[in-house]
Amino acid sequence: MLGFHPVYREFSVRKILVTSALPYANGPIHLGHLLEYIQTDIWVRFQKQRGETCTYVCADDAHGTAIMLRAEKEGITPEQLIDRVNAEHQADFSDFLIAFDNYHSTHSDENKSLSEAVYKACDADGKIASRKITQAFDPEKQLFLADRFIKGTCPKCKTEDQYGDNCESCGATYSPSELIDPKSAISGATPIDKESEHFFFRLPEYQDFLKEWTRSGTLQPQIANKLSEWLESGLQEWDISRDAPYFGFEIPGQPGKYFYVWLDAPIGYMASFQNLCDKRDDLDFGEYWNADSRTELYHFIGKDIINFHALFWPAMLKCANYRTPSAVFAHGFVTVNGKKMSKSRGTFIKARTYLEHLDPEYLRYYFAAKLTSHVDDLDLNLEDFAQRVNSDLVGKVVNIASRCTGFITKRFDGTLASTCEEQALLDQFVAAGDDIAELYEHREFGKAIRRIMELADLANQYIDDQAPWVVAKQEGQDNALQQICSTGINMFRLLITYLAPVLPAMADKSEQFLNISLGWDERSQALLNHRINKFKPMMTRVELPKINAMVDASKIAVEQEMQLGKKTESAAPELPGGEAIAPEIEFDDFAKVDLRVALIAQAEHVDGAKKLLKLTLDLGTETKQVFSGIKSAYQPEDLEGKLTVLVANLKPRKMKFGMSEGMVLAAGPGGKDIWLLEPHSGAQPGMRIM
Ligand code: MSP
Ligand code: ZN
Repeated sequence: MLGFHPVYREFSVRKILVTSALPYANGPIHLGHLLEYIQTDIWVRFQKQRGETCTYVCADDAHGTAIMLRAEKEGITPEQLIDRVNAEHQADFSDFLIAFDNYHSTHSDENKSLSEAVYKACDADGKIASRKITQAFDPEKQLFLADRFIKGTCPKCKTEDQYGDNCESCGATYSPSELIDPKSAISGATPIDKESEHFFFRLPEYQDFLKEWTRSGTLQPQIANKLSEWLESGLQEWDISRDAPYFGFEIPGQPGKYFYVWLDAPIGYMASFQNLCDKRDDLDFGEYWNADSRTELYHFIGKDIINFHALFWPAMLKCANYRTPSAVFAHGFVTVNGKKMSKSRGTFIKARTYLEHLDPEYLRYYFAAKLTSHVDDLDLNLEDFAQRVNSDLVGKVVNIASRCTGFITKRFDGTLASTCEEQALLDQFVAAGDDIAELYEHREFGKAIRRIMELADLANQYIDDQAPWVVAKQEGQDNALQQICSTGINMFRLLITYLAPVLPAMADKSEQFLNISLGWDERSQALLNHRINKFKPMMTRVELPKINAMVDASKIAVEQEMQLGKKTESAAPELPGGEAIAPEIEFDDFAKVDLRVALIAQAEHVDGAKKLLKLTLDLGTETKQVFSGIKSAYQPEDLEGKLTVLVANLKPRKMKFGMSEGMVLAAGPGGKDIWLLEPHSGAQPGMRIM
């Protein structure tokens, strides 16, 4: 026994509702986020595999100033933005095998009515205060400015261009009003002070309740300790309103005032569940959320949002007469190669970029192998990642199956032995399952994985000792050979049963191969006289070049984003034509470009194209067809016979009018003023330009 507290059980089958934090709808999912969704998904899959009734809901967090501004920048409505991002998020999650029972949005009817109801209940109970406060206001944008939208010179060390309330250079903290020469980060205007009425949740009235609640086993000890310091020093009222313009829900009876995004965000958990209940007969909203609920409710979150979940949220639920969470589980932050994820190092890796290069189960496994029940940060060391996945999963686990199956298929028509002479060994594997289950239950995934790998070592040791490849060559040893290989396959089956919450796709493939379903309770029954299917390796090795390609691609993605951003940021350096200056590149980047002298053999109009001419370019050894947007400046007949410069190794692109196999270089602001680059007439087609 491992010494955990026994798990609370109200029903013979537990009824559990689980959430992960709702990702903001203004940006893509990245590997940092994924730690949380993978952690939660493993826990949920484990509960389901054990036969518990476990429901996992999530949603996009769609409100707030940042989303409003982002939509404006892209020239679309906030609704268009959040719909697009919602689809992107769901695709990312599904490709990482995160199996939500429901994925909704906080910008939904359910959330609107629940948020209003919670607010009204608090108001009716006298827990909402209102008073005027003074805040920075952008007179140009007509917008109140949160601290992070104000920039200026640090009052202590005089470093320019520091955000809101702290200096990145000297670490000083201050109030934005102390900044020297403050500017709105949105418009560049100098903010003015402006008064407006705000609404507050009377959090201090919940001091006693929260002292009790945070100490009742709902939080990890580290967090309970931290919070008790604050609870001792006294709580502040919580500002829950924002002024128009704001993308969110208007407060009932208060035109022009909106719920602060963090009021309706956690209510989004309820709203997503409500939305699911409306689709499913077996789930009842009240059974899970009423004050007297006997079901379990768990929130998985990151350490940065503990206050919202362990103070404001339980107090609000209490006030509105709903149940409070059974527990809040916080995890630490992902670092990559020992440092904070960084755009310039290429370690700010988006879920999509990862998926373009690597198998999602590698990351699920690596995170699982390093996760604990604590709040410590988790380092994704990319070399260790490759090494760990290759040696554990490919080298140990899959190897067991591949070492045993060939003989079973070839010599025994795919059928396992009908008795097992190694029952004691298998019993050891079965018994370990109880410990592993305890570890999963208590979110000690790293320890669970270690235990599973010890078993995998044992299995490989057994196969090494028995050497089926030697036995296979001996006369009259058929029975022994079948025994050994069947034992191996039974061990493999138990290992995959234990790994299934972490590696759902590998588990699916193994179910195919083993011709069974991998239930936790069914595991003690060995597979005897059982037909298995043809073996196909369930996982291939992580290849280092793919990791490097992923990091490179992440750098490029950031550069592209910066260029997009620069076009809208007024202070960014620009070319005379108004275009953004591209970021600095390495010599190696430049060296990748193959610039060649090309003879324009033919130039023609293109039917239906307003700007394009079709050029046939002679490179001496080959000809290329290029569509070039220079029609406004050149007559085709003037071009024929001229030399120009071609990017010869540009990936061919299919255009409406045909393939374009390169790009010719030209300069100028546009219209009639586009000048084709013409090398010296002594140049020969095909010459490389250096
Ligand atoms: N929208 C809020 C949550 C509202 S919950 C009612 C939010 N969104 S977020 O997109 O910024 O983060 C979503 C989750 O991902 C949070 O739990 C956050 O802690 C987690 N992570 C974001 N970056 C992370 C890392 N680099 N590492 C680990 N988790 C991180 O907060
Ligand atoms: Zn400073």
